[in-house]
Amino acid sequence: MKPVRKAVFPVAGLGTRFLPATKAIPKEMITLVDRPLIQYAIEEAREAGIEQMIFVTGRGKGALEDHFDISFELETTMAARGKSLDVLESTRTEPGSVISVRQQEPLGLGHAVWCARNIVGDEPFAVFLPDEVMVGQPNCMAQMVQAYEKVGGNVVAVLEVPPSETHRYGVVVPGADDGKLVEIKGLVEKPPQGTAPSNLMLPGRYILQPEVMRALDAHEKGAGGEIQLTDAMAKLIGTQPFHGYRFDGERHDCGEKVGFVIANLALALRREDIGPQVRAYIADL
Ligand code: G1P
Repeated sequence: MKPVRKAVFPVAGLGTRFLPATKAIPKEMITLVDRPLIQYAIEEAREAGIEQMIFVTGRGKGALEDHFDISFELETTMAARGKSLDVLESTRTEPGSVISVRQQEPLGLGHAVWCARNIVGDEPFAVFLPDEVMVGQPNCMAQMVQAYEKVGGNVVAVLEVPPSETHRYGVVVPGADDGKLVEIKGLVEKPPQGTAPSNLMLPGRYILQPEVMRALDAHEKGAGGEIQLTDAMAKLIGTQPFHGYRFDGERHDCGEKVGFVIANLALALRREDIGPQVRAYIADL
């Protein structure tokens, strides 16, 4: 079984749900407490043993690359003023470990992932949707890698949501289920309300075999007229093992405002430096 060494981060989206905040900065650069969304995803990948980060970006997204580069002016100025550079440690990357490709047209998540096919090559890879922030110990992807090492094939995170929300997500047709790992017998992207095969949805963490790229080659359009990753994954079912994994931890949907504000609070409350003050303010409210 080949290890998961590479991860794809689809970050080409326009972030219209967060306008005007995202007019001049990428939505992945919006901050949760003191680090941008993208950094949470990169740290999750690193902690899960992933070495090669592949950004699928678009025009105007240069800040994402800058964030993981050395900022010569900043570091020189801070060093000259005797300030510690430790705060930048988590933004340092090995030269060559972050690669960007462009999604030239907004044709859907499946298309974004397909844009990384030449860099992914012939090995399994992870996909992270950075809007979705997972908090857990070990983290969500690290738990998934452990599951992958047991069952191989494709392993995707799954999460139960109320039936009234399934139409917003990729949804699983479940098979054998041991409470942790669930066999996936089918996948439907954004089923119309009342038609979902279950309330187990895909919250945006995937370990996939490279064959999914061949399924994406066809550029078939699905829900919303977009090339969907869910549809391409569905084509692998029956040809390769395909499991859902219920991870231990919290999921925050930072792609919408309420989820984003709650994530800020949840993460702030856990921080030793600012948690007590934030807690006192909330109690006061
Ligand atoms: C995408 C995926 C969907 C998944 C969701 C998680 O949808 O297509 O399967 O459940 O992310 O956030 P989007 O949010 O891009 O519409």
